[in-house]
Parts: sequence; C-alpha cells; structure tokens
Amino acid sequence: MNINILGIESSCDDTSAAVIQDEYLLSNVIANQEVHFSYGGVVPELASRAHQQNIIPVVERALVKAGIGKSEISAIAFTRGPGLLGSLLVGTSFAKGFALANNIPLIEINHLQGHVLAPFIREKQKENPVPSFPFLSLLISGGHSQIIVVKNHYDFKVIGNTIDDAVGEAFDKCAKIMGLGYPGGPVIDKLAKTGNPNAFAFAKPRVADLNYSFSGLKTSFLYFLRDNIAKNKNFIEENKADLCAALQHTIIEILIGKLIKAVKQTGIKEIAIGGGVAANSGIREKITQLGKKYHWNVYLPEFRFTTDNAAMIAIVGYYKYLKKDFARQDIAPMARFEI
Ligand code: KG4
Ligand code: ZN
Repeated sequence: MNINILGIESSCDDTSAAVIQDEYLLSNVIANQEVHFSYGGVVPELASRAHQQNIIPVVERALVKAGIGKSEISAIAFTRGPGLLGSLLVGTSFAKGFALANNIPLIEINHLQGHVLAPFIREKQKENPVPSFPFLSLLISGGHSQIIVVKNHYDFKVIGNTIDDAVGEAFDKCAKIMGLGYPGGPVIDKLAKTGNPNAFAFAKPRVADLNYSFSGLKTSFLYFLRDNIAKNKNFIEENKADLCAALQHTIIEILIGKLIKAVKQTGIKEIAIGGGVAANSGIREKITQLGKKYHWNVYLPEFRFTTDNAAMIAIVGYYKYLKKDFARQDIAPMARFEI
C-alpha cells in the first residue's frame, strides 16, 4: 500500500500544500501573497488573512494535481513552527480539522527540518542523488543561518548558529536601505550578476567557533552608503550593480568561511544547502566550485524547494509517519521552535 502524505506550509507569507507518495512528489502548490509588496515586508495580520483565503483552494489543487482523493491520504503533516503565530495557526487549525474529519493521523513538522531534508524530495523521471548520512546542512533562510550535522532523517545537531541577524535578513535589510523592495535577496542576486564583486570592500565579522553574525555588515553597509551619498546623492543609483555584487560577495565569504571550518572539524564532506538563501546563484556557484576543489559531494536543492514550500513539509511527514510519530489534537503552533 502506498503512503500518501499531505503537507501544509503556512509559516510566513506563502500558503502551500503538497502530496508526497513514498518519497515521490506528486504535487506542490504554492500561493504567494502579493498583498505585502507595498509595505516593504510581511505584515503578519495580512498574512494570516491571506492564508485563510488561500488554504482550501490550495489544498484542493494539490489533491487534484496529485490525482489523489481525500480518502487515500495516509496522514496530514503541517508546519508547527517557527514562524508567524497567526499564519501558523491557520495551517495548524486546517490540519487538525482535516485529520479529524478524515480519521487520519496528524503529524507536526519543524519548518527548519523541512529545509534541511528538502534534498530527499524525489521526482519521477528525475532521479536526483541524495546525501548520505552523516551530512552537513548549511541552512540559510530569512530567519536562520545554521550549520547542522544531520545524522539521519531524525537526528540533527546544530554546530553553528547566528548570534544576531539571519543571512536572509541581511539581504533584505540591505536591499531596503538601497530602496530595492522586498524580498531583497532575489533582487540583489539579479543585480549582482552585472556588478563587480571587488568594487567595494565591507568588513567581515570576527565571531568565535562556527557561529555567524550579520548585523555588523548591515550597519557598515548603511554607514558606507550614508558617507558616499553625502558626497554624491546619486551614489546608489550609479553603483547599484557593484554594491549588490560586493555585498553578496562578502556574505558568501562569511558563509563559506565557517562551512570550510565545519568540514575540517567534523571530517564530513557530504554538503547540502537549504532555505530561501540557498536559491542565491552566487552561493550555489561558490559551493559547487569548493566541492570540486575539496572533493565534497554537494547537494543543491531545486529552486522551488529552497524557498518555503509544502513538499519539504510532506517529506519530513513521510519519515515521521514511518516512525508513527503522530501529534495530538490539542497541539498548538509555536512561533519559536529550535531544530
Ligand atoms: O526559507 P525562506 O523562504 O523563508 C524563511 O524560512 O525565512 O527564506 C526567505 C529568505 C528571504 O530573506 C529572501 O530574501 C531570501 O530567502 N532569498 C534569497 C534569494 N531568494 C530568496 N536570498 C538571496 N538570493 C536569492 N536568490
Ligand atoms: Zn523557510
């Protein structure tokens, strides 16, 4: 008998539902929320309302695309956290209701584990190699910058963490300073392609161990722009591509420095990346180069599995289903949730 898992993701501003059948993806539907654009960031109350409007049509589409009826779903897996509480509440309540109505198990998922295990999502006619255990995951998103030793599908050990801003926040805040809109990562990535990464130099933080810090970079970027705008009010406009390229280059150097250190410390050469910032073309290129240089096996998830999606929630749900790791009906979402 096939195991069919319906996954639900609603932690931030994407409403998503996916169906996974025995590790293979059958459908992954994502509704992005346009409503936040003019505010320059996600407005939590608007996000919850949009999730409420989107969730039923998104789930219906995911089931139709998968060709699976409600009665064939083995369990429903939902993001319990971390994320915006109101947004999480919509997905959690939907999942509880669906589980109860269809008399199937409910599975709670840590969103971060979803990003980490995204390389295990399989697609028919597209056999992609998957990491072997143990592997190192560089988890880089809007809320996290972590290096994790993944011992198996269930056992994760964080060996590096950010002490302040996450890397995605650094991209977003610096883009905001330059007036580039939200989310900033993809815009900086695009502009960086035509700029010179060595046009400007920004100081890199000195942080102990395998930990990261990005708030200093954001501040020095702000002061650098302020000083230059005082001399030339068109400074940003005239140097946009070079600013993006130099900023992205610095961020990548920071990320890579600790990753190389982590490989040396652990001896693990299986490397995967995950989270929204793993969509960054500069990071993907750099990690691929390093893989060749140091003989690492590198696993880059497809773009659509880097930013928030329910396929990654459903794959973790599949592994938890195998262990019969089910949640109770009185479970509540959690805004903060460590891996
Ligand atoms: O994983 P994600 O969708 O949400 C969280 O769990 O946080 O990550 C969103 C973050 C945002 O900060 C966004 O700017 C960043 O991922 N991002 C990128 C790129 N695409 C998305 N950052 C750099 N380059 C990109 N191409
Ligand atoms: Zn995420």
